[in-house]
Amino acid sequence: MANDELTGHSPAKPQSGRTVLDPHFDPHLDRYAARTAGMTASEIRALFAVASRPEVVSLAGGMPNLAALPLDTLSTQVAQIIAEDGLTALQYASAHGLPPLREQICDVMALEGITAHPDDVVVTVGSQMGLDLVTRLFCDPGDVVVAEGPSYVGALGSFASYQAQVVHVAMDEHGLVPEALRAALRQARITGRRVKFLYTIPNFHNPAGVTLAVERRAEILEICRTYDVLVVEDNPYGLLGFDGQTYPALHSLDPDNVVYLGSFSKTFASGLRVGWVLAPPAVREKLVLATESATLCPPTLNQLIVSRYLATHDWQSQIKTFQQNYRERRDAMLSALEQYLPPGCTWTKPDGGFYVWVTVPEGVDTKAMLPRAVSAQVAYASGTGFYTDGSGSRQMRLSYCYPTPERIREGVRRLAAVLHSELELARAFGDRFGRIQLPSR
Ligand SMILES: Cc1ncc(COP(=O)(O)O)c(C=O)c1O
Repeated sequence: MANDELTGHSPAKPQSGRTVLDPHFDPHLDRYAARTAGMTASEIRALFAVASRPEVVSLAGGMPNLAALPLDTLSTQVAQIIAEDGLTALQYASAHGLPPLREQICDVMALEGITAHPDDVVVTVGSQMGLDLVTRLFCDPGDVVVAEGPSYVGALGSFASYQAQVVHVAMDEHGLVPEALRAALRQARITGRRVKFLYTIPNFHNPAGVTLAVERRAEILEICRTYDVLVVEDNPYGLLGFDGQTYPALHSLDPDNVVYLGSFSKTFASGLRVGWVLAPPAVREKLVLATESATLCPPTLNQLIVSRYLATHDWQSQIKTFQQNYRERRDAMLSALEQYLPPGCTWTKPDGGFYVWVTVPEGVDTKAMLPRAVSAQVAYASGTGFYTDGSGSRQMRLSYCYPTPERIREGVRRLAAVLHSELELARAFGDRFGRIQLPSR
């Protein structure tokens, strides 16, 4: 029975041919599958139109800085691919991914200690699709995924769309805390909840900007084995250490119990949407079937572009250039935070990747503050988007990957001014109600 029959309200559904005046009116509301309930836009998406104005310094997004790419060479190569191999490049191909590219992906992964067979690599449309496929394969509604708190917002979106529930596990400056993981898995076992996998971003974490200490890696894998929990290792930033340093992939330490997600988005070109999953053979078979039903195959032309780039370009030197660019921006961000942010703010000190995670003093709510920051022409991602349990209201993610160092400094200066005035307000009104203890200036 339709709602209006129950309530007696006249339906707001439009007659065909009538103009719907309310832009938020959705005539399909009663039709959506239950799993769409978890699909919500982030706050920054809601402010996107304003935040993307040129006068606003956006420290919100995670767009890689592609300016250093050799565009002339690339355009020649793309033209060559079409001229020499166009009928293949523009055709469907295997869902598994092109064999030469899968071999090259194995060489890329070897840099982080992984020994893999190309058969076990499945090419995906970015690692985001890998996340979606892995969740689709493993999660029934109500299943639990254990993830760092905070965690990557795109992963949380995938988990929500399959109605999986996320249990967050604490991190410190050395990444995921093994004891907290053990406690979460023990608790899930006691309460009879099915944990399907640990989702983790060990290197240069998005959004936390920390790296899992090498000494913790074996312990975390051992805990997951003890509780019979699969590990999903998401590693798009692993080659972006600012000193060229790499860490042993979790997969290299326990290949049978780790599904690894990789991507060319941060080390080459995000718009090509080429990523991959490395999985044990049985899982890999299912991933290929899931790819077939999702997209038939990953884009052939884009795979050929990546493959030719890897074969003909000094891609490792290119990654070094990216490392230097991001390092310069990280330095600008950290020194500006030091110079401008009010006392009581703390932040992580990334040694690779794109992000700094800032904690502000009690009395400031980063989500509520966001529209005011955007009015002051600076945008950030508020912390609540990176948790599913309502945490994060005193945190924000600042990304330094895209703007120039000068813009980063200016953005932090504007942000600091907004924070100062929020703290003034909290001092004036919060203290009066005896709720807020603020650090002295
Ligand atoms: C941790 C993490 N995983 C996955 C992705 C998705 O990357 P891709 O462009 O490969 O889909 C991102 C993108 O920002 C990310 O930060």
